[in-house]
Order: sequence, then C-alpha cells, then structure tokens
Amino acid sequence: MKSFSTRHLIGIKNITEDDIQLIFETADNFKEVINRPIKKVPSLRDITVANLFFESSTRTRVSFELAERRLSADIVNFTASSSSVSKGETLLDTVNNILAMKVDMVVMRHPAPGACVYLSRHIPANIINAGDGTHEHPTQALLDAYSIRETLGDIAGRKVAIIGDILHSRVALSNVFCLKKLGARVRVCGPPTLIPKYYSELGVEVSHQVRETLQWCDVANVLRIQLERQDIKYFPSLREYHQYFGITREMLDSLDKEIVVMHPGPINRGVEITSDVADSRQSIILQQVENGVAVRMAVLYLLAGQKSQ
Ligand code: CP
Repeated sequence: MKSFSTRHLIGIKNITEDDIQLIFETADNFKEVINRPIKKVPSLRDITVANLFFESSTRTRVSFELAERRLSADIVNFTASSSSVSKGETLLDTVNNILAMKVDMVVMRHPAPGACVYLSRHIPANIINAGDGTHEHPTQALLDAYSIRETLGDIAGRKVAIIGDILHSRVALSNVFCLKKLGARVRVCGPPTLIPKYYSELGVEVSHQVRETLQWCDVANVLRIQLERQDIKYFPSLREYHQYFGITREMLDSLDKEIVVMHPGPINRGVEITSDVADSRQSIILQQVENGVAVRMAVLYLLAGQKSQ
C-alpha cells in the first residue's frame, strides 16, 4: 500500500508529486463516502485532533472540523481570542498544555510564517498547516488542484492564472508549488506592487495585463485583496484596482473561449471579482469548498497512518 512521505503537512514545497496524487486518490474515495446517506467512517476513531486557530477562518476551520467528524476523530477546538494567549502565554506553552491532554494531531492557522515548522520541531504530534501568515496554505492548494482535475481532467499542460494580491497570499505560493509539481503552466497576474520579485524564479510567468492573461489561461484563480495586510498603499484605491484588475462579465464575454473561474474565498465582491462572475456557471467556487472536506479527510487519514514513524 502507498503511504505519505512525511509526518506533517507544513507546505506543498516539501511534499512529492506522488504524495499529491495519493491525496487525490484517497479524496476520491472520501468524496464517495460523504455523498452517502451515512457520511461517516471509523478511520480516525481513538485519534484526537486539536484545531488551533490563532487567526480568523470560516471555510478552513469548518471544513477541517467536518472532515475530522466524518472520520470519527475526537476534536478539541481552540481560538486565540478566547484563550490564555490573550494573557501572554507563548505558542509552545499553549500547544504543550493541549498536548498534555493526549492530542495526536494538530491543525493550526497562525499569522506568523513558519509557526508550523517551529511546532513540528518541538512537539511529537502530526502538524497540518491551515495557513501560516503569507507563507503557505497547503490544503487550499490541494483542494484547488483537485477541483481543476475534477472539472478539466488531467492538470499536466493546463494553463492556470493566479490573479490578484500575490504579495500577501499564502494560497498563491502553495498553488504555484502544487500546480508546477503536477505539470501545469502557471502565470501570476496583478499590479507590479502586488507581485514579489522572487516569483519569476519559481518557474512561473509574470504578467500585469489581465485581459491578455484571461485569454491565455484555461483557469483563472482570482485572489482577494487582503485588506487586513495592506500596511502601506500598494494601489491608489479599491475602485481603481477594480477598474484595472477586477474580473468582470464583460471581460469574460470578450474572450474567444470559456474559462473556469475559481476563488479561494473570502470574496470581496465588486473588488477583485463581480458578483455576476462569482455566481456564474463558469465559477467553481462552491465546488472548491465542497471538495475541501474530502481533500482534508484524505490528508488527516494519510498523516494518521504516519503516526508511529
Ligand atoms: N480559503 C480560506 O482559507 O478561507 P478562510 O480564511 O475562511 O478559512
């Protein structure tokens, strides 16, 4: 039987193409399970998972919790705002106290890039990164790639554009690693101020022309402007951003083909994407959310199998 190459899922950078294919094949089985009248399997019975969220989340937090429940795991939920972190407790002390209560796996979202790497070096549990600052969001990239595979078939050779606030996006970096490992052609597109220089060294194309990029791609993954991370002004106004980089119905109708539109959420409607595009037949945004549960079940199941190594 095939197994995962690592005890933790910190980022896509550190896993192999075989790992990704194994996650997809396992997710195919779990997707069948969660569409049955009885959506539960006993695979993680006797495993306790702590969901540690030091930063806001809707999709990822709910999706992980549902995935854990569908696998029959015991769950502990923790949010920083209602914990002793607000009294000055360190990350390591917080996690060690939770682990003293016999937790096997930790799913963590944290604002600091590298927080999950740090934890994985200090505690014995399996760690899953649910988003660490502007670094990586591996399960989002996996569910995005899984959704492209489900919609278009094989990912190798597909042209995928990632459009928007690349600078602040952990989703962009994980998507680039994932899609490149699967053989896709990847382009990032946005204002020069929102695309870090190092992206051209990751084997992706860089563009500042949205219409030309939409004509080039098979799939456009549109990213949100991360309003909470705009410490300086990267563009004059949201209105101007929308005027030059927002994805509109008129833009899609001007193409000579139909492309697939994605967005990891949360959406700023009327900024990076208009409602008539987000809610259109071309959009697979809710399909991404649905697939998130099966993909996270696969990741939890495969990492639980690595527990004793
Ligand atoms: N896509 C995503 O990470 O959404 P949340 O911040 O709601 O978890």
